[in-house]
Amino acid sequence: MNEISSFLVVALFFDAVADPHCPFSSTYFEPADVCLKEMYREDNFYVAESICELMGGQLPCVTSEGMNSFIANFPKDLYCAESSLPLWLGVYPNGGCTGGGSSQYSNYGNKTNQTKAVDPVLDCVFMNRSTQFWSHASCGDRAQFLCQLPVLKVNCPASWEFSLGGCYHVFHIKNGYPQSEALEYCVAIGKRFEVNATLASIHSEAENEIIFGLGQLTAYADIMWIGLQSSNNESLSWTDESAVDFNNLLSDGNNECSSDCCAVMNLGAQFLSPLNVSNGISRWNLVPCSKSTKASLFVCKVV
Ligand SMILES: *[C@@H]1O[C@H](CO)[C@@H](O)[C@H](O)[C@H]1NC(C)=O
Ligand SMILES: *[C@@H]1O[C@H](CO)[C@@H](O)[C@H](O)[C@H]1NC(C)=O
Ligand SMILES: *[C@@H]1O[C@H](CO)[C@@H](O)[C@H](O)[C@H]1NC(C)=O
Ligand SMILES: *[C@@H]1O[C@H](CO)[C@@H](O)[C@H](O)[C@H]1NC(C)=O
Ligand SMILES: *[C@@H]1O[C@H](CO)[C@@H](O)[C@H](O)[C@H]1NC(C)=O
Ligand SMILES: *[C@@H]1O[C@H](CO)[C@@H](O)[C@H](O)[C@H]1NC(C)=O
Repeated sequence: MNEISSFLVVALFFDAVADPHCPFSSTYFEPADVCLKEMYREDNFYVAESICELMGGQLPCVTSEGMNSFIANFPKDLYCAESSLPLWLGVYPNGGCTGGGSSQYSNYGNKTNQTKAVDPVLDCVFMNRSTQFWSHASCGDRAQFLCQLPVLKVNCPASWEFSLGGCYHVFHIKNGYPQSEALEYCVAIGKRFEVNATLASIHSEAENEIIFGLGQLTAYADIMWIGLQSSNNESLSWTDESAVDFNNLLSDGNNECSSDCCAVMNLGAQFLSPLNVSNGISRWNLVPCSKSTKASLFVCKVV
């Protein structure tokens, strides 16, 4: 092997697997088994929370003294050097976490110091980074925030998209790609990155939305292979052999197919002919597995 090609192999190897623990260069907080990311910006509570949700996370659900002080002392850049600025937390004024999860922990200091009655709907909880104490402010006020992100349970190749604890990539290869070739492609590209990949299985509305969004980014309003199949008219199965616990097939979805059926996700209606799916965007349809999809889109997932 000459010098240049061995360099390429090394480069590929290091490129292949991003930080195996935390997505988006976030920092691991071991006691709570979560990743935390400074967002270097301020916004109102609702925007802050939805930015965290877009990354598959939530505003921090603070569960302990240790986590509270970890967040307060989170490495700051110049923008955040003013440490007495407020920092939104993902907890409700009356307890519990806004993004799911519960916590008995709070750190309000002396409650007698509260200057006004708390509105459980319009008020949100912030932390003063320099005192580490919590207080309440109108949710519409602006504050800095960190996002709490789920730990990666799979290795996610660089340039693949990590979300909701999964790892996905949408491919657009060439005209006329039947499901079997898309499946083979996922497996092969996974091997190159030293991960096990296959056509994506989908287990929740949230995961469906993530994958739909990735498909839409390609700007092909076509159908996209996912990993659902139904050979010989038998029951449905995923190519990664996970449970079929979420079904987003249009009710009349199998009309186009009776045996050796594979599922596509509808990214847009205009190229769906001969399918006629009104309001079927982001829903699934069973089509013959041998169908050559027009834009040849498919979504792979690391399993
Ligand atoms: C945070 O606490 C410091 C010290 O008590 C105080 O000066 C500052 O005003 C507080 N900031 C907020 C946003 O309450
Ligand atoms: C509560 O008020 C007292 C007296 O004004 C003050 O010394 C103390 O620091 C305050 N505590 C908090 C948590 O703000
Ligand atoms: C709360 O009040 C008590 C009694 O006044 C005081 O000793 C304590 O330092 C106060 N704690 C805070 C966080 O202000
Ligand atoms: C891929 O799957 C094989 C067979 O199930 C397993 O032995 C191997 O550890 C998996 N590799 C990774 C990187 O998960
Ligand atoms: C497949 O199943 C559907 C619904 O159960 C049935 O209507 C259809 O005739 C079956 N097709 C074949 C080829 O068995
Ligand atoms: C699609 O189906 C709808 C409702 O069944 C029907 O009104 C419409 O004419 C169909 N469009 C095409 C292009 O077949």
